[in-house]
Amino acid sequence: MVDSLKKPQFEEVRPGVKAPAEETILTPRFYTTDFDEMAKMDISVNEDELRAILEEFRIDYNRHHFVRDEQFQKSWDSISGETRKVFIEFLERSCTAEFSGFLLYKELGRRLKGKNPVLAEIFTLMSRDEARHAGFLNKALSDFNLSLDLGFLTKSRKYTFFKPKFIFYATYLSEKIGYWRYITIFRHLEQHPENEIYPIFSFFENWCQDENRHGDFFDAIMKSQPQFLNDWKARLWSRFFLLSVFATMYLNDVQRSSFYASLGLDAREYDKHVIKKTNETAGRVFPVVLDVEHPGFYQSLETCVTNNEKLTEIANSNAPAAIKLLRKLPFYVSNGVELLKMYLIKPIRVDNLAGTVR
Ligand SMILES: [Fe+2]
Ligand SMILES: [Fe+2]
Repeated sequence: MVDSLKKPQFEEVRPGVKAPAEETILTPRFYTTDFDEMAKMDISVNEDELRAILEEFRIDYNRHHFVRDEQFQKSWDSISGETRKVFIEFLERSCTAEFSGFLLYKELGRRLKGKNPVLAEIFTLMSRDEARHAGFLNKALSDFNLSLDLGFLTKSRKYTFFKPKFIFYATYLSEKIGYWRYITIFRHLEQHPENEIYPIFSFFENWCQDENRHGDFFDAIMKSQPQFLNDWKARLWSRFFLLSVFATMYLNDVQRSSFYASLGLDAREYDKHVIKKTNETAGRVFPVVLDVEHPGFYQSLETCVTNNEKLTEIANSNAPAAIKLLRKLPFYVSNGVELLKMYLIKPIRVDNLAGTVR
């Protein structure tokens, strides 16, 4: 019917199996860590809270939530052209991010078993949640006649090694930002049901509670290791992780603003809201948060957006590789300068509040 439906919009490795998106600095990462250090961690300072969280995971509130009902039983050819393309990209990115959580938590559950039983069980139960999330998204892709080969992804992707402390910073933030992303879309579509182009969004309300609980677990585990939070290094690293997570999301989303537009959202406004909320939330555990209201913050991000547009333009040009690199260089340098400027904006000290704002 529509032109774009005749030929696949994406490269396929086998019929119906989408070739994974090219790995870049902006695509979701896969992590690995020092399992022995994690196993030896003494959690006694905050063990009561961790056990309470484990009880919550055992209850499994969303056991019956992820069921594809009759709303999905129709043709989705009405989502076509550019909207279809960005929509599939959204599903793929989300699926890859959820699956990356699944792999890490599953491995942690396996490696800590018998050594740190409370943590081992929590990780195993969180991997159960992430498997559901990833599976649900992969089923959604099948509504668009595609799927991801998650087994292949497991073997072929590069894994980033982070010490446990950094795994906690990174996963804490990705869970909390995930929560704010999902709930913000859900609340928006609740107000504007005419923009709900596909039923997956109505699942986000309960879904994001999983992410919120996962984030609360990382909050509690970091509080059981005060040495991860209470020195000057922790303040520098908190800023670094907050900035990388916010900048990555902003650059990704602005580049895909047509996806958000198809839901009736302005990508920039959406991201600013999610960044503000995640930053506030992070203040419950991190010793510092970013001054995201500082006028220089979004100015610098916008310069990076423009740089990235230029970089894509150069990458898609026909120039020889060496020339491309030369042309790209000033934009890489500019991105570096802008990120550094953002990093150096005076942060907001919140360590006196940590643990009290609940
Ligand atoms: Fe998830
Ligand atoms: Fe999660």
